[in-house]
Amino acid sequence: MDNGEEKLLKYVISLCKEKKNALDLGCGNGGHSIFLAQKGFLVDSVDSSPKALEALEKRIKEKAVSRITVISANIAQFAVDKKYDLIMAASSLHFFQLQTIRDILARIKNWLTDDGILFLRIFSNKDDEFIKYIKEGRQSAPNEIISPRTPKSIHYFSQDEVKELVRGFEIIKLEEVKKFADHQPDGPHWHWMFEVVVKKTEVKLL
Ligand SMILES: C[S@@+](CC[C@H](N)C(=O)[O-])C[C@H]1O[C@@H](n2cnc3c(N)ncnc32)[C@H](O)[C@@H]1O
Repeated sequence: MDNGEEKLLKYVISLCKEKKNALDLGCGNGGHSIFLAQKGFLVDSVDSSPKALEALEKRIKEKAVSRITVISANIAQFAVDKKYDLIMAASSLHFFQLQTIRDILARIKNWLTDDGILFLRIFSNKDDEFIKYIKEGRQSAPNEIISPRTPKSIHYFSQDEVKELVRGFEIIKLEEVKKFADHQPDGPHWHWMFEVVVKKTEVKLL
């Protein structure tokens, strides 16, 4: 993780009332999971990619981190009977159709403790790749395309859709940022994304 990402994560952690349990949905090779575990969280790290989870297991051994539970699951089907102080879904929720993302958000809300914090990073519809896909005729629904690499949908959010997605949460931060990425087969490139930090606030009945 670079300095900017560490700073962001430290800020997100500082918002958590309790710092006991965290869930990392679409954890990849686990940069965020490892950071959270090193900061004292017990982390459940979920991904469906065997390659990503293998890389995470390797890093856990190398860094001698003992506070991470690696879970192989599809986020859309993942279920857990547990509460988390912090849930991360960084660059993983846009790989579904909008209604599925909304369903996942409803489940995430149930898994958060009262005052629990959720961090989301999701594609913006300002992204160059989305504009290119639209020109190639790949649009399958509003703000949605079928990926040329997998026969799966990718949703590129408008700001209004992001606000609608987190309706009922308290919005702490909602920013549209240009984020650097470097992965195969694209190599170094940039993505327009929304970074969203929200808090679950329970309506207290008098
Ligand atoms: C771009 S990576 C982000 C990794 C990490 N969260 C980060 O920000 O560095 C997206 C991850 O989401 C995972 N992913 C995509 N669709 C998924 C699904 N349906 N269920 C579980 N994981 C999924 C991919 O395997 C990949 O590891």
